[in-house]
Formats: sequence, C-alpha cells, structure tokens
Amino acid sequence: MSIKNRTIFENDNLFVLRGMDSESIDLIYLDPPFNSNRNYAAPIGSQAAGAAFKDTWTLSDVDNAWHGEIADREPALYQAIHTAELTHGKGMKSYLIMMAVRLLEMKRVLKKTGSLYLHCDPTASHYLKVVMDSIFGKNNFRSEITWRRATSTQKGSQHRSTRWGNNADILLYYAASSAAALSPERELTETEIVKKFKHIDENGKRYYNDSAHIWRTPNMGERPNLCYEWRGYVNPHPSGWRLSKERLEEEYQKGNIVIRPDGKLERRKYLKDYKGASYGNIWDDVRPPAKEERTGYPTQKPIALLERIIKASSNDGDIVLDPFCGCATTCVAAERLKRQWIGIDISEKAVALVRMRLEKEVGLFGPVIHRTDIPRRGEKLPNYRTHKHTLYGKQEGLCNGCQTQFPFRNMTVDHIIPRKHGGTDALDNLQLLCGACNSTKGTGTQAELLTELREQGIL
Ligand SMILES: C[S@@+](CC[C@H](N)C(=O)[O-])C[C@H]1O[C@@H](n2cnc3c(N)ncnc32)[C@H](O)[C@@H]1O
Ligand SMILES: [Zn+2]
Repeated sequence: MSIKNRTIFENDNLFVLRGMDSESIDLIYLDPPFNSNRNYAAPIGSQAAGAAFKDTWTLSDVDNAWHGEIADREPALYQAIHTAELTHGKGMKSYLIMMAVRLLEMKRVLKKTGSLYLHCDPTASHYLKVVMDSIFGKNNFRSEITWRRATSTQKGSQHRSTRWGNNADILLYYAASSAAALSPERELTETEIVKKFKHIDENGKRYYNDSAHIWRTPNMGERPNLCYEWRGYVNPHPSGWRLSKERLEEEYQKGNIVIRPDGKLERRKYLKDYKGASYGNIWDDVRPPAKEERTGYPTQKPIALLERIIKASSNDGDIVLDPFCGCATTCVAAERLKRQWIGIDISEKAVALVRMRLEKEVGLFGPVIHRTDIPRRGEKLPNYRTHKHTLYGKQEGLCNGCQTQFPFRNMTVDHIIPRKHGGTDALDNLQLLCGACNSTKGTGTQAELLTELREQGIL
C-alpha cells in the first residue's frame, strides 16, 4: 500500500480513491452528504467555523462521463438510478450518480475480507440500498442499522406536522464477500449479568438454570438415536435427550450437568461460556457527541458509534478508510483502537480540524500526514472518460434518434455530419444512436433520420 498510516487527504475523494490500490482496505465507513436539500455550515466562533458543505444536487454537479462510467461498469446500476429519476426526480438521480461513481471505487479498494458501512438517512436510504445491491451484490448485504441519534425531535415550525419527527439515521452494512468477519456481540452490563445469571455455585461462579433444555419435548418429534440410558436416567419421551450420550457425559464432567442431592438433573449455563448478546440492528444507546467531544463541525458523529463499528468489523492493525471524514471522528476512533487509518475530506477546514483534534485527543504530534496530491496506483487505469462515456451522460442514456434508453454497450458513436461530408471527430459532431437508428441514418443527415422516425411512428 503506497499510502501511509495516519494520512489525511485534502481533496475530492473520487480522485484519491481512483489512485488507491485495489483490495488494500479492511474497513470503510462513510458519512456523505445525505441529499438533505440543505447547506451545512459550522457556527461562527466554533472550532469548526468556516467548514461548510452543500447538500443539494442537480445534474450540473455531475460530470457527464460518470453516467457513461456507471453504465459501462454496472449496467443494472445505471438502470436502478434511472428508476430513481422516474420516481423521485433529477435531484435524486444526480445525487445517486455522485455517490455511485465513488461507491464503485470503494468496492474496488476493499479487500475481499473487508466491510463497508454507509451512513445515510431516510431521504435516500432506500435508493442507496438498491445502488449498494448493484455494486456489492445482494448476498453481501448484511444489515440495515437504525441509529437513534436524538431522543426526541423538536417541532420545527408553527405549522401542523405532517410526518413523524425523524430522530434516526440509517447505516447500511455490506461485506465485500462472504469472507468478511463480524463480531456483533457486546458485553453484558452488571445489571444484566445479575438478572440473567441468577445463581451462584459452590465456587462463587454465576450461572443460570437451563434444565428445560436437557430433554427434547414431544412436539420436536421422535429421535430413537437420542433415546438412551445415562447414569440410571431414562427419558420418558421417545423424543430423547437434547445431547448425544458422549456430549452429555462431557458436559457432566465439565460441571455443566449436575446431579442434585434430590436426584434431579440440572443443566447450568455459566457466565464464562456466554458468547454475549448481539447489539441487534437498533442502536438506541449511542448518544450524540458530548459537550467535551463536540468540535462545532456540522454533522459530527459520536466517537462511540465509530468505536462500535470498528471493533465489530476490524482487527488490530487493520486499515480503516473514511472518504468523507469531516472532523475525523473515524480517525480518532481508529487511532484509539490501534487501527491504521486514512481520512479524506474536500474541505480545508476539515483537514485543519483533523490535525488539531488528533494532536489533542490522541496525543499525536507530527505523525499526521497531510496530503493534497493524488496517489498513483501501480496498475494501468481503465479509461472511463472516452467520448462515448461523455455522450452517454450528455444524452442521459437515451438514443438521440428514437429517444429510448439503451445500455452502454448497445450504443454506437455516430458522426452527426458524416465524415465523408466533412464532419469531424470533435465531440460536438458526435452523438450516440442505438444500432437500429444508426443503420436507418446511414450516411444521411440527422434531420432525415428524425423525419424517417416520425414517418415510422417511432417519434
Ligand atoms: C456529513 S459530513 C461528515 C462528518 C463526519 N462523519 C464527522 O463525524 O465529522 C460530510 C463531509 O463530506 C465532505 N465532502 C463532501 N463531498 C466530498 C468529496 N467529494 N470528497 C471529499 N469530501 C467530501 C464534506 O466536506 C463534509 O466534511
Ligand atoms: Zn434509437
């Protein structure tokens, strides 16, 4: 990996991501603009003053070649984005195109064992999930987590509310492949331990009584191979014991099955063997950043949220990337958990904050590397900026004859004024036509093509 640990890039993440080696990152967390139709600015006088980013999207924010790139790399993804335009409009389409070109690169830089968490909110989470399914594959979708970021919402205006207050964000968790590991368990709190592991044995160890799980119940069906006599005990039902005879004896030797003085069998589940409870996918226990944690950066996320993600989906020394790192919450959490990290943010102010925060919070002085250049990959880069890619965006995927949407590969580049009539190869003399329209046009003019299509009732 050509990028050093503790590097913060001040640049557009698309360029930085394109320069990063394939399969080099273990975990990506991203908290991009949400298409909230708002512009964010930090309050004047806060540490973050001057930080701002806009979150309103139109097609003019989108490079035409990105349409072609998406349609070329993932035809189904372009179709999904086109559908979002039909149901939601061009703003959503533009936002999704901006996100999709970056997510394609993120998938490329993730190791096969890697994971990605996309932080969003209900404005676009349903469309982003479709985008993610196209890029990562539906089988690599793992969880949709709801994070309760505020306990209540304030009524914003004097008008009657028409919707429930939104106090939750959504995290879409995808794996690069089935090889990605996760440890979703949390430790029990003291209160939970006392409540669940009610009993204390002769040696002072906590356990709970799980005797209901010694024998199978009649409605579980008959299992002749689990019907046996063990130390003088026979199951009265033909459904048998829960365990094989060997396992039962093993559990007895370990002290997990006990013959009580009254002759009854007891099965014990000890705290030391407890695998932990999963956090589940509703996270209502992570509070917004506390006062001492707050930098004033708009949309700052709590360190505890990032710690939970990083602990569950990476190991010591792994590389964590946050391509929209803002005031570096991910970098601080990764540093605390002894992971390596790379942060990217387009805003100059964000980078200044990152340095300040890391130096203050983690006690680092000096080793944070600030880069404004673009890294270079060893391999030859594919070219997604040909005339064909740009034209695909300019025409929004439609054939310039019949006005029908076609996949990238079915489009042909046509000279509007044919070369034999002096037309040039310049972009403004080129257009995309579907195969049928291209052969209809032949060496004729564009006007002739359109007349012909009208005559055929196609236009
Ligand atoms: C929602 S904020 C991230 C907040 C962050 N999670 C935190 O805790 O501070 C989104 C960030 O993305 C940055 N950003 C927007 N577009 C970007 C781009 N194309 N490349 C890099 N950063 C970008 C903005 O400057 C902003 O800091
Ligand atoms: Zn056509």
